[in-house]
Amino acid sequence: MDLCMLVVSLILEIIFIALFSSHPVVAANSKLFREYIGAEDKGVTFSDVPINEDVDFHFILSFAIDYTTSSSSPPSPTNGDFRVYWDTQNLNPSHVSSLKTHYWNVKVAMSLGGDTIANNEKVYFSPKTINSWVRNAIHSVTDISRRYHLDGIDIDYEHFHADADTFAECIGRLLFFLKQNGVVSFASLATYNDDSAQPHYLALWRKYGHVIDYVNFQFYAYEKCTNISQFLKYFDEQSSNYRGGKVLVSFGTDGSGGLSPENGFFMACRRLKHQGKLHGIFVWSADDSMKDGFRYEKLSQTLLAK
Ligand SMILES: *[C@@H]1O[C@H](CO)[C@@H](O)[C@H](O)[C@H]1NC(C)=O
Repeated sequence: MDLCMLVVSLILEIIFIALFSSHPVVAANSKLFREYIGAEDKGVTFSDVPINEDVDFHFILSFAIDYTTSSSSPPSPTNGDFRVYWDTQNLNPSHVSSLKTHYWNVKVAMSLGGDTIANNEKVYFSPKTINSWVRNAIHSVTDISRRYHLDGIDIDYEHFHADADTFAECIGRLLFFLKQNGVVSFASLATYNDDSAQPHYLALWRKYGHVIDYVNFQFYAYEKCTNISQFLKYFDEQSSNYRGGKVLVSFGTDGSGGLSPENGFFMACRRLKHQGKLHGIFVWSADDSMKDGFRYEKLSQTLLAK
């Protein structure tokens, strides 16, 4: 009888353990550090920015825009014909080559779109038709990517003259083509908590999430003086919006909002790291960080490298 009870209780215990033990957390931390560069014509170069050899480092050239460049008339949309708008004096193709030969751990991407152009005019995503936009974008983005030896594409439109499904189709097909044909090896989207932008990016995520490697969520677009617990709540919200995605955390060095390094950004990062949820950190932007000697870039990379 005793033996019988023992066996039964052992079996029950085994079943209980099998059913209810929590699965060990698979740490999904990564050592990815990304930084936007070149949007503000402040003369910043790749070699100004400190690079820790123990992280995966992405520079994101900002921006290529499908708008005309003419000094005589205001910029206007070109239906997917992208041109380079970053500081090409200091960030040209040979700078990219030499950077990549010096650092095995550095890759270079470019970001498409952005907030504004010229005299603070908003950049709108303005395709004429899906097919024509995609055709032009494939051609121009491939051309720029080859010329600049790029590894990745970031999508950063913030204003829209097209609905969410059109956006998703255009961007999804472009990214699919670029990755399928080995033009670039990774893609990210850059979105923020905004009623008009989010539906576009969520539609893109739903339909083409499988071609998007990282979600550069602009946590610095939240209110100034965000505290740690709010920040962690926002992180959870966006992680569930972009379910299955690698949502990266971020701060701005241009005086924008969100949880700043002074108010506990790195403490929040350590919390996420402890939970296996730190997929990487990105910063807007190198142009703005130069004045402070990139101190927070150094701290970010040290935290990721550990
Ligand atoms: C963070 O801010 C929220 C909203 O202002 C506030 O309710 C909360 O108490 C703050 N938390 C901490 C730890 O300061």
